[in-house]
Amino acid sequence: MANVVIIGAQWGDEGKGKVVDLYSEFADVVVRFGGGANAGHTLVVGGNKVITHLIPSGVLRGRGKRCVLGDGMVIDPQTLLEELTDLRGRGLLADDRDLVIGERAHVILPFHKEIDRLREEGKGAIGTTRRGIGPAYEAKMARRGVRIRDLFSESRLRERISHQLEDCLPRLQQLGGQLPDVDRITQQYLALGASLAPFVQDATRLLHDEIKRGQHVLFEGAQGTLLDIDHGTYPFVTSSTTLAGGACASCGIGPTAINSVIGIAKAYATRVGGGPFPTELVGDAGDALRQAGAEFGATTGRPRRCGWLDVAALRLAVRWNGLSGLALTKLDVLRGLKKLKICVGYRVSGTPGSGGSDYRDELPCDSDDLAHATPIYEELDGWDADLTGVREVEDLPPPAKRYVRRIETLLGIDCCLISVGAGRAETVMLRNPFR
Ligand code: GDP
Ligand code: IMO
Ligand code: MG
Repeated sequence: MANVVIIGAQWGDEGKGKVVDLYSEFADVVVRFGGGANAGHTLVVGGNKVITHLIPSGVLRGRGKRCVLGDGMVIDPQTLLEELTDLRGRGLLADDRDLVIGERAHVILPFHKEIDRLREEGKGAIGTTRRGIGPAYEAKMARRGVRIRDLFSESRLRERISHQLEDCLPRLQQLGGQLPDVDRITQQYLALGASLAPFVQDATRLLHDEIKRGQHVLFEGAQGTLLDIDHGTYPFVTSSTTLAGGACASCGIGPTAINSVIGIAKAYATRVGGGPFPTELVGDAGDALRQAGAEFGATTGRPRRCGWLDVAALRLAVRWNGLSGLALTKLDVLRGLKKLKICVGYRVSGTPGSGGSDYRDELPCDSDDLAHATPIYEELDGWDADLTGVREVEDLPPPAKRYVRRIETLLGIDCCLISVGAGRAETVMLRNPFR
């Protein structure tokens, strides 16, 4: 038995799609455990690009590989059906049994997206994906949410939507939004529910039974560690738990079932949306990295902010997720830079009782601390060679090897995989967590 959780170790877009697709070869079941269509996971196979927003990235592995949407997700039924239609057009998920939707997952309603959009157009925008994620999780926590199961009964659905609207209406009105038509939404979502019905079941029971009979389960995270609602760079975070522990909570699986946790980190750092990013490169250097790494959002198309690798931030990912290995992606992108910088810690000035300055080996996440934090960099030599053909670590140019080794030393964990291109083959496999 091997059950593995894979999470993003930075601010999202680390290459989870590619790595999950790779490891899915060894899994029987692949489960998305958090967030919703704010995620955009890119898979490049045989030169073809597929972007999944809700369906787990194991989907390209074909028949018999179960793809599960966990109960902790917030699902936009319309987006899910569009994704399903697209994948079926590619000959995937032909068998209904290969897609499972947790019956307790929450549903994104049209006014969630509207509230999200209106908030983002006003003061205090944080640069969300405008997919209605925050308002849907708010409704869930207020115990007024609509769950997937509720889509199957007209009276229940109407009652749930009305109950939620009592809460949302003042907010919508204050933001200048339209009055939602409960009847229209009820009918629309009943129809969507009918289309999704063949896939809906108790996912917790299915996962329990699969694990019990020794099947291998891969839990696919979305977003990234620093976007976690509790521990990330609050309030510039998403509205769900992005940490490895979230896999258990979302899926109703005990932590004892998890054997290994892999964190994915880019060889540099990116962030899309607002919020602190102390190692950000602005101007030409940032633009060059964005171009080299094709750093444009897979969901919204927004240019991603780019910067140096922040090991002090990654230490938080190691600690909060209990990482057993690191998958380092996009190493090929750093080609051609004379010198590379790694942030190894922070100097925080003005901390009371510290004599005016204080060293931190981890990224300070609090905005007051961050305002006074200066990254401490270590400089390493770069390399010119194209890495996309490298398959063994010994074949990396010495400066690239030193860069990887230095990251491992600073973090105290090993790389289990190094990615040198978007395709499946463009990978140096060092250790397989399923073996
Ligand atoms: P995710 O959200 O974590 O799945 O990541 P995204 O798909 O949003 O963004 C990662 C991007 O980098 C995608 O376009 C991938 O195809 C691409 N990618 C993944 N690994 C590598 C790599 O090692 N090298 C290069 N050049 N691109 C990669
Ligand atoms: P994947 O899974 C990168 C960011 C948004 C915004 C903040 C809150 O592809 O790595 P939300 O719409 O969730 O309320 O937005 O979180 N964000 C992501 N950034 N990758 C993602 O997903 C993201 N999902 C949300 O840009 O800053
Ligand atoms: Mg992404």
